[in-house]
Formats: sequence, structure tokens, C-alpha cells
Amino acid sequence: MEPFGGSLYEQMGGAPVLRRVVEAFYPKVQAHPLLGPLFPEDIMPVMEKQMLFLTQFFGGPTLYSDQYGHPMMRARHMPFPITRERADAWLGCMKLALSEAGLDEELARVLLERLQGPAYHFINQEGS
Ligand code: HEM
Repeated sequence: MEPFGGSLYEQMGGAPVLRRVVEAFYPKVQAHPLLGPLFPEDIMPVMEKQMLFLTQFFGGPTLYSDQYGHPMMRARHMPFPITRERADAWLGCMKLALSEAGLDEELARVLLERLQGPAYHFINQEGS
């Protein structure tokens, strides 16, 4: 349980709001010079997986694991060169997406803080 009742997923407004965030996020990722080249042109399947994953990451139903098994997210990111700069860029796109989706500033700060752990944990290379 979160301190103010309900999971972060519930606090942010559940699926409709998370979808707004994810839909605001990927165009920024695709347009980013350090991130865009890592992603496939057809971003829809990635968006759908992220929707399932963030639902469970923020304390909602375990949609990702139900479909794909143990997330093993660091391992799933190993094929891609993830540097500190790319982790910062990813978090920067997410910060903009949370704001664009109209989330409360304090809640957006908490969500971003939660994502920092995994983002920096996925770093697997030096350089930009
Ligand atoms: C640190 C910077 C990050 C980079 C550069 C990055 C990059 C990528 C790339 C290239 C893919 C594969 C796209 C494809 O299917 O071809 C991917 C997949 C994914 N990423 Fe990240 N990512 C980052 C951080 C994160 C974070 C912080 C999360 C969530 C906490 C996350 C969640 C996911 C999910 C759920 C998938 C789909 C996994 C699957 O295939 O089942 N990523 N990411």
C-alpha cells in the first residue's frame, strides 16, 4: 500500500491515464537522437508491452507477467546498448510525457523517482 491509500497506478487514474502517458512518451523516444535508433519503426507492440509492464510496476494488475512471464527487465534490455546518457534521456522523455498527460506534479515526481531505479540499473555500457 502507498502512504496516501491506493497503488500509484490507482492514484494516477489507472489505465486511461497510463495510456495517455505511454502515448505521449514513445513519440518523444522515437524523436530522440540517442533513443530513436534503438527502437523498431513499428512502435505499437512496444507501447502495448510498456502499457502492461507499467500497470504492474505501479502496483496495478500483473498484466505483463500474466502474458510474458517474469519481467527480467534488465536481461530483456541487454541486447541494447544502454548508457548513462540514454538512461537520462529515457527519464527525460518520461518526465515530459507525465507532464503532458496532465499528472499532478507531486505524483509525477514520485512516479519518475520509481523509474529512476530500473533506468539506471539497466545501464550496461559506458559512453553516450
Ligand atoms: C534506461 C533507458 C532505456 C532504454 C534505452 C530502453 C530501451 C528499450 C528498447 C530498445 C527496447 C526494445 C524495443 C523492441 O522491442 O525492439 C525496450 C523494451 C522495453 N522496455 Fe526499455 N529502455 C529503457 C528503460 C526502460 C525502463 C526504465 C523501463 C520500465 C521500468 C523499460 C521498460 C521496457 C519494456 C516493458 C519493454 C518491452 C519488453 C518486452 O519485450 O517484453 N525500459 N526498451
